Amino acid sequence: MRIRVIQLGYFITFEGVEGCGKTTQIKLISEFLLAHGVHTVLTREPGGCPIADKIRSILLDADNKALSPLAELMLYAAARAQHITEIISPALTAGKVVLCDRFSDATVAYQSFGRGIDRSIIDTLNLHACQGVKPNITVLVDCDPRLGLERAIRRIEASTGPREERFELEVLDFHQRVRAGYLQLAADDPARFMVIDGSKTIEEIFSVLSRQLLSRIPEDLRAV
Ligand code: TMP
Repeated sequence: MRIRVIQLGYFITFEGVEGCGKTTQIKLISEFLLAHGVHTVLTREPGGCPIADKIRSILLDADNKALSPLAELMLYAAARAQHITEIISPALTAGKVVLCDRFSDATVAYQSFGRGIDRSIIDTLNLHACQGVKPNITVLVDCDPRLGLERAIRRIEASTGPREERFELEVLDFHQRVRAGYLQLAADDPARFMVIDGSKTIEEIFSVLSRQLLSRIPEDLRAV
């Protein structure tokens, strides 16, 4: 007997370098879709559930300078496995549209292209952590890391919460490699990726993105 994994819902992930504007867009898109009868589950990685949020605080704490690249990779995979089990899989099985701020492509871009960890290790870990879940669409908000880092540092300075800046403190070259990694992933899978110019204004990006996404979400998922 053949076993088929059926993903009833629709899974959209948002990716990009620090400060590219994806978090602003994912919130706008969630409100826009709701206004068009599409109820979304809005979540993020690392995090999205209490255990993964605890892992997030270890990963992004700038005091954890001693965290080794391999330990960092394993923590991202652990957070993802928990998040999929608790949040993403149940929502997709229930036929929901899930919007996730970063997902498995971030691990390839940051830990492989950025940190230099062998791609095959990352692909194997992602394979197990993702448990068969794959994005239907990945929105890559592409932007020059110089522009993105300026925006990200302004946001951190204005925030009153914990300073989640371990990656913002990396050298520019690291962020350039991450950007190149994302663009490579998009070129390798053009049917899944939607690449948007992140140097445009919030309104311009939203206008393009909202139109394209709405036309791609299956009709039968509206008003779920
Ligand atoms: P955020 O700033 O978009 O919330 O993302 C948190 C940071 O974690 C960001 O610097 C990118 C990084 N990251 C990885 O390095 N690998 C991953 O797999 C994920 C999901 C995020």
